[in-house]
Amino acid sequence: MTDPQDHTPAPERATATGTSPAGGDAGRRAGAPLLEVRDLRVGFGSEDGLVQAVGGISYTVEAGRTLGIVGESGSGKSVSSMTLMGLTRSPSTKIEGEVLFEGRDLLTMSTDELRKVRGNEIAMIFQDPLSSLHPFYRIGDQIIEGVRAHNDVTKKQAKARAVEMLGLVGIPDPGRRVDAYPHEFSGGMRQRVMIAMALANDPKLLIADEPTTALDVTVQKQILELMDRLQRELGTAIVMITHDLGVVAETADDIAVMYAGRIVERASVHDLFSHPRHPYTWGLLRSIPRLDLPRDVELVPVDGRPPSLIGLPDDCSFRERCPYAAGCCRPGMPDLLGADGAPDHQVRCTMPPERRATIWQVLADGGTPQEAATKAGIPQPEEVA
Ligand SMILES: Nc1ncnc2c1ncn2[C@@H]1O[C@H](COP(=O)(O)OP(=O)(O)OP(=O)(O)O)[C@@H](O)[C@H]1O
Ligand code: SF4
Ligand SMILES: [Mg+2]
Repeated sequence: MTDPQDHTPAPERATATGTSPAGGDAGRRAGAPLLEVRDLRVGFGSEDGLVQAVGGISYTVEAGRTLGIVGESGSGKSVSSMTLMGLTRSPSTKIEGEVLFEGRDLLTMSTDELRKVRGNEIAMIFQDPLSSLHPFYRIGDQIIEGVRAHNDVTKKQAKARAVEMLGLVGIPDPGRRVDAYPHEFSGGMRQRVMIAMALANDPKLLIADEPTTALDVTVQKQILELMDRLQRELGTAIVMITHDLGVVAETADDIAVMYAGRIVERASVHDLFSHPRHPYTWGLLRSIPRLDLPRDVELVPVDGRPPSLIGLPDDCSFRERCPYAAGCCRPGMPDLLGADGAPDHQVRCTMPPERRATIWQVLADGGTPQEAATKAGIPQPEEVA
């Protein structure tokens, strides 16, 4: 049976706080975050040159908290999280930086060491649940295998754990359904099974990559509520990856917005939604429905396409698509810095604070980027030409 993350439960580990018994945390430093990603860079060798999929990202996740990573397709969300788990290692992949999990650098761990962490202390739900569930094996056997890979328990004990977990994620009649095959479950139920598998070893960190994208809105809501409840009960930290700001609004404590392999804005959920500061984030916000605007206000994706990740210029990567670039941007890649007197709200954009405030005011009232740019005195492309 193939299982990319060696799913496994740890029945003996304490569940209420998501922390291991004393002694198991020898590498943990007091007050340090559970996960600390420092300047992570991932490049793939290709015939045309190095594809810089992740261009230097840093973030932390505290125990029991949820970080949402948001960005459109190709922004490096999956590559960055798969790299944490050692799943992008290959001779042609260039990986730099540090990924400290309880103080231990996952990037320098041997494959064997990493295998022990994966599916046990850190679990991942992949974008496509079917890719992680083997069609020929019973659901229960797949959970049991994951449990026994990391715990010295009998098959009977592991099966009891599988039934318990299926019950926990809301599978009706888990004692019977544990013997079913994946095709006997609906998409939403399969996603619940994936969550059961991922949490069966009581991981301290769960990385959920688009866990609800393939589901309809009602089932999506149920799954997000389930993850929220399990997090409160089990104390698991979560990295929630999605292209949908609406999903992180419901689930995350903090948000990192990614664009072209970099974080362009990072803040608490409250700050990001009340005072978004990066033009790309403004664009993303215009593409989710808002209750405070009339229903006929059009939802628009961000115009244009992201840049090629091969030979990215050392300049603001969003410049080509930014409606506010003219006349305000300095050359060079802006740093990710605390903005407008808020050190915890970081943005990779050199726009002056007054201009930012003027533009956001117009956008928040339902105005278009063109109207906002005009109000801020920014020449429009035709004027510039
Ligand atoms: N093995 C690889 N070799 C070369 N390029 C790759 C490889 N894996 C990913 N990429 C490229 O890296 C970039 C980031 O991909 P990634 O899968 O992280 O995007 P994503 O943000 O998860 O997008 P999506 O929302 O579509 O899942 C993309 O341009 C992708 O084509
Ligand atoms: S630095 Fe300039 S081009 Fe880049 S996002 Fe900010 S305003 Fe737009
Ligand atoms: Mg992805």
